[in-house]
Amino acid sequence: MAVERTLSIIKPDATRRNLTGAVNKCFEDAGLRIVAQKRIQLSRAQAEGFYEVHKERPFYGDLCDFMTSGPVVVQVLEGDDAIAKNREVMGATNPDDAAEGTIRKLFAENIEANSVHGSDSAENAAIEIKYFFEDSEIVG
Ligand code: RTP
Ligand code: MG
Repeated sequence: MAVERTLSIIKPDATRRNLTGAVNKCFEDAGLRIVAQKRIQLSRAQAEGFYEVHKERPFYGDLCDFMTSGPVVVQVLEGDDAIAKNREVMGATNPDDAAEGTIRKLFAENIEANSVHGSDSAENAAIEIKYFFEDSEIVG
């Protein structure tokens, strides 16, 4: 098992409901270490750039509206198999399909306002971490 880093975002539906600590507890209980973290307001351009891969999807505009509707917490999580482990802790995209005990089952409001983002591959994790963090901001 390799030690990996992954990008996580606590989304506006969760920051609005004061759930940052509750979400972070799920990560830490699963053995993921928060090695960088900042609370920011995404600009429209930042949200559109981050979700560029979904540009052609019907939900792209709504998703960018949602992601700029309030503050987010961007973070780097580190641990054994961090990318897959984080996806497991997050649960399925649609909370109706998410397993018991996952963040999305516990906290998500719906398929869009689903509380967290997590990188889905090593390649995307590297790109997404660089999108928000300088190397010097990540302290393992
Ligand atoms: P994420 O990228 O946020 O970690 O989520 P994911 O991989 O589980 O889902 P993805 O397919 O990459 O979709 C990105 C985000 O777009 C919103 N979404 N809305 N209205 C819809 O049908 C719909 N489908 C997806 C969600 O916020 C999803 O997390
Ligand atoms: Mg995704």
